[in-house]
Amino acid sequence: MSKNKHNEKVGSTIERSDERIKVTGEVFTPMWLVYSIIDEIPVEVMNDKEKTFIDNSCGCGNFLTGLYERLTTKFDHTHEQAISRLYGIDLMQDNIEETCRRLNVSYPHPHFIKGDGLINHFDPSTQLNTLDNYYNDSTN
Ligand SMILES: C[S@@+](CC[C@H](N)C(=O)[O-])C[C@H]1O[C@@H](n2cnc3c(N)ncnc32)[C@H](O)[C@@H]1O
Repeated sequence: MSKNKHNEKVGSTIERSDERIKVTGEVFTPMWLVYSIIDEIPVEVMNDKEKTFIDNSCGCGNFLTGLYERLTTKFDHTHEQAISRLYGIDLMQDNIEETCRRLNVSYPHPHFIKGDGLINHFDPSTQLNTLDNYYNDSTN
């Protein structure tokens, strides 16, 4: 199976060339595996609305949509409460757009951004998360 066919089976509708996948490594985690990993997270963590989750190479958002599904169906979160706990970064803008679509939030959204997840976005001098600045910079 081509890697793009695999991605179609795991929630993405974006057509990716073999060349692109070779560069980005976009081969996404199947939802059955996502759920089996998420279901290992302690119940206290899932219930704690102060705790947040980030996928710093989120692809089309499989882990984020899995978390969203569990938070809203098993842990009594509203849509807003679940979204407020989720963050995602990916190098590819279309992946972020697809993540937003799947999470039913508008794009652009400050929690789901195109960027380099290997960069430390926390600025110790201001104590601020610089993701918003990165996201607002039109050159990105
Ligand atoms: C193997 S996929 C995993 C996606 C998702 N976490 C999953 O498990 O389904 C890797 C993703 O990381 C993205 N990526 C690669 N390097 C990155 C970087 N430095 N910063 C952010 N995203 C990156 C790619 O675009 C791709 O979508």
